[in-house]
Amino acid sequence: MHVIEKAVSDMYSDHPFPQRNEYGVNVMNQDFAKNMESLGLSMGFLKGKKVLDAGCGTGELSRFMARSGAIVDGVDISDGSLKYATECAAKEGLKNVTFSKKSLIDDKFPENTYDVIVSHMVLHHTADAEKAFKNIVKSLKPGGTVIIRLFFLWGRLSPFQKSPLWKLWVVKLLAGKSPDAKVKLAEKLFYKEGDEKSHGLNKYTYLYDNYGVPQVTHHTYGQLLRWFRESGIDYLSSNPPVELKKMIDRFVYNQRQSVTKRGRFFKKLADITLTVIPLHKAKAAEKPGLYSRFFSQFICLFLAGTPMFTICGTRRK
Ligand SMILES: C[S@@+](CC[C@H](N)C(=O)[O-])C[C@H]1O[C@@H](n2cnc3c(N)ncnc32)[C@H](O)[C@@H]1O
Repeated sequence: MHVIEKAVSDMYSDHPFPQRNEYGVNVMNQDFAKNMESLGLSMGFLKGKKVLDAGCGTGELSRFMARSGAIVDGVDISDGSLKYATECAAKEGLKNVTFSKKSLIDDKFPENTYDVIVSHMVLHHTADAEKAFKNIVKSLKPGGTVIIRLFFLWGRLSPFQKSPLWKLWVVKLLAGKSPDAKVKLAEKLFYKEGDEKSHGLNKYTYLYDNYGVPQVTHHTYGQLLRWFRESGIDYLSSNPPVELKKMIDRFVYNQRQSVTKRGRFFKKLADITLTVIPLHKAKAAEKPGLYSRFFSQFICLFLAGTPMFTICGTRRK
C-alpha cells in the first residue's frame, strides 16, 4: 500500500468518520438529499440502482441510499470504519448493502458494473485524486451516473469560510505531521465548546477529520471537468452550480432567504453589481466554460465561502 494510503487508512481506522452526536442525527442524509435535488436528481432516482459508495467511511450515506431502495456496495480502506459500517447495517437489518475493503487507487473495480457511483468527501484524501477518479469510473455502466463531492479550492480559501484553509496550514506548520499532535493543537487553538452543535459529530471525529488527516488536496471545477472529459463522462450538473447564470440565481436566492445583516448587504451588492454589469446575461453564462468558471469561482472565493462542491455526470454510451 502507498505510504499516504497507509497513513490515511490508519487515521480513519482509529477515528472512523462519521460518528455522530445527538445533534447530528440525519444531518448528512438531509444534506445529501438536498444536494441531489440541487443536481437535478432526487433520492428516488437511486431506487433499484446498483450503487458504488467509493470511500464509504462508517457507511452512513451507504445505509441512507440503501434505505432509499438502492443496492449498495460500500468500499473503503479503513478497517475501523468498515467494522462500524457493517455493525450498523446489521443492527438495522439492511440486506441491500455490503461493505468491503478496497483502495480506490490500488484495487481494480469490475468494469461496466454500476448504475451510479457516489464518492462523497473522499477523493481529496487519496494519494492521487485524479488516478482514483479514473480508476473507479471504469466500473460505471454506459449511461450510468457519477456523483463526486470534494474540497473546493476557491471556497476553502474564502475569508467567509467557517473552517478556512489557513487554520489547517497553521496547525500543520506548528504541529508537524503527527495527526495526534495536529489535533491537540487545533483543539487548543480553534475548538470552542458548543461547536459540536453545529457540526453534529463527536468532538474527536470532527477534529481528526478536519485537522488530523495526513492527506488533504483541493480541487476546482476546471480540473473535474477535464477528468470527466478524459474519462468519457458528460457533465450534467454541479452544486454550487458552475454555470454563472445558475450560480448567481442560487446566490441571490440564498441571500434573499438570509435574515442576517451580512446576507442583506451581499444581496444589495449583488443586485447593484448585476444591474451595472449584467454578467449573467451573456450566452456563455449558461455553460460550464471558462467564462462561467472564472466568475463562479470568484463568487465562491469572495462572497460565498463554500468548502465543498459536488459535480455529476453520465458515462457516454
Ligand atoms: C471524510 S471520510 C468520508 C466518508 C463518507 N464517504 C462520508 O461522506 O461520510 C473519507 C473516507 O475516505 C476513505 N479513503 C481515503 N482514501 C481512500 C482510498 N484510497 N481508498 C478507499 N477509501 C479511502 C477514508 O478511509 C475515509 O473513510
